[in-house]
Amino acid sequence: MTILSIETSCDETACAIISKEQKNNEVKVLSSVVATSLVLHSKTGGIVPEVAAREQLKFIVPVIEKAIENSKLKIENLDAIAVTVGPGLIGSLLVGIETAKTLAYIWKKPIIPVNHLLGHIYANFIQTNNYEPSAINFPALALLVSGGHTDLILLENHKKIKWIGGTLDDAAGEAFDKIGRLLNLPYPGGPSIEKVSMRGVADRFIFPRPMVGSKDFNFSFSGLKAAVAREVLSSKYNVLSIQTKSDIAAAVQKSIVDVLVKKTLKVAKTYKVKSILLGGGVASNKKLQDELILNTKYLMPYTAIFVPQKSLCTDNAAMIGAYALFNYKPTSWKNITANPQLYFN
Ligand code: KG4
Ligand code: ZN
Repeated sequence: MTILSIETSCDETACAIISKEQKNNEVKVLSSVVATSLVLHSKTGGIVPEVAAREQLKFIVPVIEKAIENSKLKIENLDAIAVTVGPGLIGSLLVGIETAKTLAYIWKKPIIPVNHLLGHIYANFIQTNNYEPSAINFPALALLVSGGHTDLILLENHKKIKWIGGTLDDAAGEAFDKIGRLLNLPYPGGPSIEKVSMRGVADRFIFPRPMVGSKDFNFSFSGLKAAVAREVLSSKYNVLSIQTKSDIAAAVQKSIVDVLVKKTLKVAKTYKVKSILLGGGVASNKKLQDELILNTKYLMPYTAIFVPQKSLCTDNAAMIGAYALFNYKPTSWKNITANPQLYFN
């Protein structure tokens, strides 16, 4: 089966063509194109929804054209269309959804609505160089860490997916972004903090690890942001040296990674999972990957860790197609609407 998938939930406009072999469930990306309006948002230090939606309108047709051209397939080779229906920014989502519905009508193809969050998890099931999704065994635990979400999801199989815990306030990516802004680092904060952390001394500052020892499986990151704000404001004239900035960044990264790793392993042990899957933009953080691998090896040596390649961690359309390939549920176009608040059922 071959699917054309569309993702426009935020500031990326993406289209991919992706297929699954029936005999071995191998999922391969035939083409994947991503355009982003990030540069515009970095000027304002955050996403302006109206600007993001206008950029989506500019990019959507060229991105779809390019994805089809790169795949070297013809429209008649496509079996279905998949599209992100939420969560996300309403204006951005509508661009992808209305385009997908129109194409489905003109091309006479079935259409599958996809939850963006599940898409991030299904990036793990895409075959790439040196990455073998066939080794993923159930039950699997997914840690989804993006700009808007931090969730722990249990996959008993492809049909039984259960939310286990999540953040009570800011998402991990949101904490990175807000703290990046406090430190006057370029937007988005996550990659900027990772970069400056490399020359930082993480132990110079000790920031809180909110809820790290709580009995439940939830997270909270807003206290961390407040602690960093206090540190920044208390510094003389509010001007930080490059070294202090790097030290704060490294301490913040250490604190966020520590909480994510400890909670994930707590759930993994409780549910005796065989695989841990990482997903979302924050999953591309090397420190998070390394610490999770190291601690899992030590505490749960028989559990395997999976991390999609970087371009599949951040927003893309291939992950949306991957979910649709494993959960093929065509829906009448009349019932497909944008749901900015969509979460896990
Ligand atoms: O999944 P994503 O591309 O978009 C959403 O669905 O939100 O995630 C974006 C988030 C941003 O908050 C960004 O700062 C964070 O992922 N991020 C990172 C890294 N790369 C992206 N956070 C930490 N380290 C990174 N290397
Ligand atoms: Zn995302």
